[in-house]
Amino acid sequence: MKDNAVDLAIVNIGQLLTMAEKGLGIIENAAIVIHNGIIIDVGESSIRQHYHPQQTIDAQGKVVTPGLIDCHTHLIFSGSRENEMVQRLQGESYLTILKRGGGILSTVQRTQKASQESLLSDGKKWLNVALRYGVTALEIKSGYGLDYENELKQLHVLTELKERAPQKIIPTFLAHAFPRGCDTELLQQHYIHTLIEKMLPSFKKYADFVDVFVEEGVFSAPQADLILSEAKQIGYKLKMHVNQIKSIGGIELAVKHQVLSVDHLDTINEKEIALLSKIETTVVLLPGASYFLNCTTVPDVVSLSQYNIPMAIATNFNPGSCPSLNIHLMMSLAVHRFGMTPEQAWQGVTINAARALGLQEELGSIVVGRKAHIVIWDMQNYWMPFYHFGHNFVEYVIIEKGVTRF
Ligand code: NIG
Repeated sequence: MKDNAVDLAIVNIGQLLTMAEKGLGIIENAAIVIHNGIIIDVGESSIRQHYHPQQTIDAQGKVVTPGLIDCHTHLIFSGSRENEMVQRLQGESYLTILKRGGGILSTVQRTQKASQESLLSDGKKWLNVALRYGVTALEIKSGYGLDYENELKQLHVLTELKERAPQKIIPTFLAHAFPRGCDTELLQQHYIHTLIEKMLPSFKKYADFVDVFVEEGVFSAPQADLILSEAKQIGYKLKMHVNQIKSIGGIELAVKHQVLSVDHLDTINEKEIALLSKIETTVVLLPGASYFLNCTTVPDVVSLSQYNIPMAIATNFNPGSCPSLNIHLMMSLAVHRFGMTPEQAWQGVTINAARALGLQEELGSIVVGRKAHIVIWDMQNYWMPFYHFGHNFVEYVIIEKGVTRF
């Protein structure tokens, strides 16, 4: 019999989604015990009698889940692009707007002009919004600098956020586009050379991942190949934006480099899915961008699941294709527009999102030894976010030793 003094016990949990097994690993009438920011016991409510907690939270029969992980965001940027939303509503395409120097490039212009302080202050503001939605860890990409100084500025902001934000931050250096005017093969070769020779080596101390946007009019598969090969050599973990709008050989490249996550996939076909299933990777689906860009094709989640490829869901928060941090809405869109099951959607924002970042031994499930990233929801069952779509039911967010009640 244990007789331990511990920091925190959460008791009287109606439905605990542990995500410990293939499904949701539900325990009813459950309790969790936390000490020093680590989960030290999980089980039925009777386990509480073995501990003397300094603080006890009575979950009053509600739902408790792991903290949500937003594994694909572009959260450091300046300005907004409502004008482009209107242009798209009038029939212009996302890629045409980019081609004439708008889109990503208009945010680059604003972000280059912004000071590090203002980017930091905006970043903190957005992270508070994410916290309110129960997001306890986020991957954040650079990619709105497009030159050495401005990418570095974004990475410095990420480093500060990593040190100061309540959430866990995972920084990525993103090769997002060619700078304005870089539209001949020679200029592009020169840019890739700078990226490989200067940016990749010196950004290693700031970023865990390198990501490349492979798309028509952005990086071609051979260009991305050069970047990914060098990034791998230097020791970065790899991610890719692929098959968002066009399929241009990104899947083959993802397989070649065995990237940890393959993101977007709005246009993937079954042959490509079969190819992808040959490597250990996680696909990151971004239903907010699909909705906001009014995409006519959606990822083939039935085949992805038949091929046993883990599926994560993220907001893709950015000023162009998804200016929303409401990850609950993304879960609901994944179910109602992409055809995922509610169970797959919960896996998508917890354990599979952790997999997309290589953090599944640390985060994404409520298991003894994992970090205490936990959300208590003011709801009776785990279907409610899909039914009351977009509504925020988060009541408590626990990140290791910090408890926030909303
Ligand atoms: O993931 N696709 C590329 N990057 C973002 C959009 C960035 C932007 O439009 O500013 C995305 O959708």
